[in-house]
Amino acid sequence: MDYTLEYFQKSVDYIRKFVPWEPEIAIVLGSFLGPFADAVEDPVVIDYADIPSFLVSTVQGHAGKLIFGTVAGRRVVCMSGRFHTYEGYDFEQLVIPIRVFRLLGAKAVILTNAAGAVNTAYKPGDVMIVSDHIKLTGASPLRGKNVDAFGPRFFDVTRMYTPELRTLARDCAAGTGLTVHEGVYMFFTGPQYETPAEIRAARLLGADAVGMSTVTEALTAAHCGMPLLCLSVMTNMAAGVLETPLTTGEVLETAERIAAPLSGYLVKIIECMKEVSL
Ligand code: HPA
Repeated sequence: MDYTLEYFQKSVDYIRKFVPWEPEIAIVLGSFLGPFADAVEDPVVIDYADIPSFLVSTVQGHAGKLIFGTVAGRRVVCMSGRFHTYEGYDFEQLVIPIRVFRLLGAKAVILTNAAGAVNTAYKPGDVMIVSDHIKLTGASPLRGKNVDAFGPRFFDVTRMYTPELRTLARDCAAGTGLTVHEGVYMFFTGPQYETPAEIRAARLLGADAVGMSTVTEALTAAHCGMPLLCLSVMTNMAAGVLETPLTTGEVLETAERIAAPLSGYLVKIIECMKEVSL
């Protein structure tokens, strides 16, 4: 399948019928961060299933809706429910949302996700501003014919997690009640959680957290030259850190506990982004 400009334009043409204005910031909400959607004023909600050329969410806790509206005076589009390779999607398909947001006019991207803490100084409920990532498995989402309208065939990723937005996010952490770190996210394909040996290897390689999402969207944004901020919520200690096996229950429990303060933190960041030229 060739993902041409015309392919993405079909989604854009449909969305434009409901949302004639340009969103400035595109926000991808990780598992159970749905409550952030309540912070969106004058929302226009579009189901993924109705959008031509789009994908559908198959994961529990991922709503499958685009929410357009205003947060802290900025026009945003929120993706409530993201797509993962473990759902059966090819890496190349995972470029779709970010490219559609780009064509709609979005200038910057904020990604959020649930992750396991590899760094033993982190605790469940802590937040990590992603400074870089490690992805050693699976194809690049930019594999295949390059669409020059989005970016060049070969592209630099040394500053893909935009340093200015990381500084801004660090500055906004005070007063949120959240413990905020900065570190490296390592991608695993899932859907199984990692083995304890994989986590030890990840730690040796320099990872602070592991997860099954985000890097495809981050690389797509970097290819388009979009400023990018990524926040990972430590929903659990990664496999083997504790004696007990990992359960999805604990992952969801932490994600639910953190949803409200994290929503507040995101609103604050968006507010402060007024001071950064996008
Ligand atoms: N590993 C991978 N993905 C995750 C984890 C984890 O421990 N926790 C939440 N998402």
